Amino acid sequence: MHEFETLIERGSPDDFLFRQLDPARLPRHLAIIMDGNGRWAKRRGQARIAGHPAGVEAVRTTVENCARLGIPTLTLYAFSSENWRRPRLEVTMLMRLLQECLRREVPLLNRHGVRLRFIGRLEALSAEIRKALDYAVTMTADNHRMTLNVALNYGGRAEIVDALRAVAREFKVRGRSLDTLTEEDVARHLYTESDPDLLIRTSGEMRLSNFLLWQMAYTEIFVTDTLWPDFNRTHLLEALVAYQRRSRRFGGVETVGVPVPALA
Ligand code: FPP
Repeated sequence: MHEFETLIERGSPDDFLFRQLDPARLPRHLAIIMDGNGRWAKRRGQARIAGHPAGVEAVRTTVENCARLGIPTLTLYAFSSENWRRPRLEVTMLMRLLQECLRREVPLLNRHGVRLRFIGRLEALSAEIRKALDYAVTMTADNHRMTLNVALNYGGRAEIVDALRAVAREFKVRGRSLDTLTEEDVARHLYTESDPDLLIRTSGEMRLSNFLLWQMAYTEIFVTDTLWPDFNRTHLLEALVAYQRRSRRFGGVETVGVPVPALA
């Protein structure tokens, strides 16, 4: 927390926002749907795909800010299983950007203590991309300040299907009947280790877009009209302040900050 504070100018809007935050009640897991790269570029009279490199800059600052704030898990939606339908040139560019970014940013991730993980059906990615992912995951494996999950070729329904297949295999090995299946059994086989407390979606769209469908049953949702490449520290702090003003009841009557345990 100290490191974050020293980077904010006294009396600035960010200082004003930061002072409203209770460090003990920050989201433990923040998820972001980074939307609006194409519109950002078009508004500047550029080709849609020119928005993606600008989006990478916003990824870098957001990762740094979340690590400095002490948010333990950040999950970013980088490429959905539906994104393959985009023009070939755009898909190639996104994959190349990711590859370059991984090679370049490993030292930054290590400096901030960020452990990188990828979630999604990674086996469908090219061998070259998978090699780049493995490199970055291995190089950051010993970091413990923050876990950064990057969703790639990710679909929420596909994740649930994968979890159910894994559960079925496990039950077969253990001789357990599927009639004894619990929510915990499914959750144990999901790609993520925890559920997001807060989802931020940029560019004003009010959709989940097949992102973390199981995990977001009780997630608070914050939608901003800001396009992803413009998303900065002020926007992040605004979302966190708004989150802390919400009353989270998890289906009950009063929030105590802890979700009710799932029913068997
Ligand atoms: C949505 O904008 C954004 C994406 C589909 C890709 C997000 C990827 C990045 C920000 C860069 C790579 C990521 C990492 C983690 C290095 P859009 O093109 O759908 O925007 P539009 O809706 O305005 O067209």
